Amino acid sequence: MAEVRSSAFRTDLLQGRAALVTGGGTGICRGIAHALAAHGADVAITSRRADHLEGTARELEAMGVKAVAIAADVRDPAAVDGAIKAAVDRFGRLDIVVNGAAGNFVCAAEDLSPNGFGTVVDIDLKGTFNVSKAAFPHLKARGGVILNISATLHYLGTASQIHVSAAKAGVDAVTRTLAVEWGRHGIRVNGIAPGPIDGTEGVKRLLEGDKRERSRRLNPLGRLGTTDDVADAALFLCSDAATFINGVTLVVDGGQWLASYRVSGEPAALEDREVLS
Ligand code: COA
Repeated sequence: MAEVRSSAFRTDLLQGRAALVTGGGTGICRGIAHALAAHGADVAITSRRADHLEGTARELEAMGVKAVAIAADVRDPAAVDGAIKAAVDRFGRLDIVVNGAAGNFVCAAEDLSPNGFGTVVDIDLKGTFNVSKAAFPHLKARGGVILNISATLHYLGTASQIHVSAAKAGVDAVTRTLAVEWGRHGIRVNGIAPGPIDGTEGVKRLLEGDKRERSRRLNPLGRLGTTDDVADAALFLCSDAATFINGVTLVVDGGQWLASYRVSGEPAALEDREVLS
């Protein structure tokens, strides 16, 4: 059973809405699925592997909403169509789509095969397009929201992340383009660019050993992010509090990507600064 956290939002914020979250069984997107359900939405979650989904689906049901777990690879347009149909059949509607399914590994460009590069682009970028396109007729029916999970890796050059950086830059382009094309159908399309989020597969892969502690120390807010930090941003963007926000990618990273320190060097650790004591 997942811990129920207190929320800054009204618990009926998304009452009556239905959502689909790709990659919703684990990590950041499990946190988003939880938050949507805790605020009244029915939630479908997808992943390539069913065993990544069942536990989370039971947690969502325990929150008193309808939940469905659907195994589908976002790279496969037919499987994506089937997943959207299964969600609409179960809930009778679709209002919110969160494109969170992603793949990542650390690999220098010179060692990366064309298929390795393409695999991540296929999952992160083409997957986002496949799911958005399949959801379009349903979102159009009464207006809706698409939320694309991006990253900050591509804002600067991030070594050993050429594949993800290229894919996420594409995701940001998809966000802006669909916002313009589909706004007239009442569909808002936004993104979230999380920084390092503690406990996720991404941080385990990218911040091995002492890199995690260094990242924490260099963050202007002195900590890594949490899945709740991202979930709160997602709730805002998916809610009626954001009805005129369209085409933005909201960075949720404590200001970390801005703080490259390339000119002034590393700052003192936050705990060493008198001003914060
Ligand atoms: N380093 C270099 N290349 C790698 C790699 C690594 N660690 N992992 C996969 N690749 C390459 C493979 O070598 C292959 O290329 P090749 O055919 O030229 O050898 C290509 O990527 C596809 O690999 P494959 O294992 O067949 O892909 P997959 O579809 O099963 O899974 C990922 C690919 C990216 C999703 C895989 O890394 C994965 O399962 N990750 C775990 C989940 C995850 O990444 N979560 C998100 C964290 S942000």
